[in-house]
Amino acid sequence: MANNRAVTFMGPGKMEVRDAGYPKLADPKGRKIEHAAILKLVTTNICGSDLHIYNGRFEAPAGMLMGHENTGEVVEVGSHVQHIKKGDICSVPFNVACGTCDSCRDRHTDVCLRANEDLGFCGAYGFNLGGWQGGQAEYMLVPWADFQLLRFPDKDEAIEKIRDLTLLSDILPTGYHGCVEANIRTGSTVYIAGAGPVGRCAAASAQLLGASCIIVGDENKARLDLVKNAGYEIVDTSSATPIPDQIESILGKRWVDGAVDCVGLECHGNGPDGSKKNEVESVINTLMEVVKPAGAMGVPGVYTNMDPGAPNSLNKQGKMALDLPKAWVKSPKMTAGQCPVMRYNRELMMAIIWGRMPTLTSMLNTEVISLDDAPKAYETFGAGAANKFVIDPHNMTRLAGKSLRDSAAARPKATAGTR
Ligand SMILES: NC(=O)c1ccc[n+]([C@@H]2O[C@H](COP(=O)([O-])OP(=O)(O)OC[C@H]3O[C@@H](n4cnc5c(N)ncnc54)[C@H](O)[C@@H]3O)[C@@H](O)[C@H]2O)c1
Ligand SMILES: [Zn+2]
Ligand SMILES: [Zn+2]
Repeated sequence: MANNRAVTFMGPGKMEVRDAGYPKLADPKGRKIEHAAILKLVTTNICGSDLHIYNGRFEAPAGMLMGHENTGEVVEVGSHVQHIKKGDICSVPFNVACGTCDSCRDRHTDVCLRANEDLGFCGAYGFNLGGWQGGQAEYMLVPWADFQLLRFPDKDEAIEKIRDLTLLSDILPTGYHGCVEANIRTGSTVYIAGAGPVGRCAAASAQLLGASCIIVGDENKARLDLVKNAGYEIVDTSSATPIPDQIESILGKRWVDGAVDCVGLECHGNGPDGSKKNEVESVINTLMEVVKPAGAMGVPGVYTNMDPGAPNSLNKQGKMALDLPKAWVKSPKMTAGQCPVMRYNRELMMAIIWGRMPTLTSMLNTEVISLDDAPKAYETFGAGAANKFVIDPHNMTRLAGKSLRDSAAARPKATAGTR
């Protein structure tokens, strides 16, 4: 039986590649599950959400296998799996979801009622949410495989476009969801807080949705440069000029139609001393300030009551000091939580396959690395590198372009075969 080398969380600041043993068709409590599949990982990305765990800001048990942004080739299926076949290359939505509970039927796979037995809802791989092990590994288990897996129509095309398709397991649907919840549509103006990979995916999503003025704020100059080079507007949150003033100098107005939090609980404050301020509420308060009356806010940025490193006693209790009383009179609307990836991933896959997804590859600045390079990449990404790190455990992306068919001929077949 094959081993399974995997990026393993050993405590804050400590990621190690260890052999975790080949996965079994069994749930986190050890019960056999025939609706599951085993995948050989093609790509598995490091995310800002992983950094919260790495930085000790989202509690997780030592020994947990990391990785919720997974794409893989099916190598084994349980006896109840009917439609997914060995050899399929599939994107794995980061939310674990059963497909039959009330939440799943409501397209809320972010809060599946069967994927996290201890909490009662909300499961994810490699995230201390339901005990499902992550996929920054050679192999991983995916339960409810027929429901969960998004099969790519053409294997050669999947490898050719893997740098964009690998984003479908999380950050592209997440950026898109943030914009949808901020009510971004044709002609909308939007402020996106955070120029990390999620913020950059949100900018591209806003463009796809038809937004007019797309403004991204951060203090990280290298990340802002990627945004600017892709043709979007930028705001420097470390400037002495307040953010509404910077927005006004771009837009002629101090308000935007919608705003998206792509930062979360590890945000810094605004202004020249912002980096020294370890705040939890800074971004949400900024959003409430810059959004127009009756505007909307999408909050995919992660917040938690499992934050031992929280900066003050209020935050340690899982609470924050919101300016809601000040903003209340503007009739704000806000949606927070995990992105229900399955609500968007098939459509976004089609947008990528047909070349409709703007500027992703260059703006994400993707760096493909080996499994052994992953612990170092956690350090580099955590220090603010302007890359998206994509782990390729079996060196499969080297096959890109090696056996491609004529793409014009392949496309109609590919779309017809989509689930
Ligand atoms: N809800 C979901 O389903 C979901 C999915 C994926 C990621 N996330 C979350 O989205 C957030 C972003 O992820 P990422 O991978 O881009 O993370 P990241 O850490 O790479 O990027 C965050 C960026 O925010 C910037 N920032 C910090 N404070 C700021 C402020 N006050 N204003 C503007 N920018 C500020 C940082 O400089 C950094 O560039 C994280 O909280 C992550 O956990 C949520
Ligand atoms: Zn992620
Ligand atoms: Zn469910």
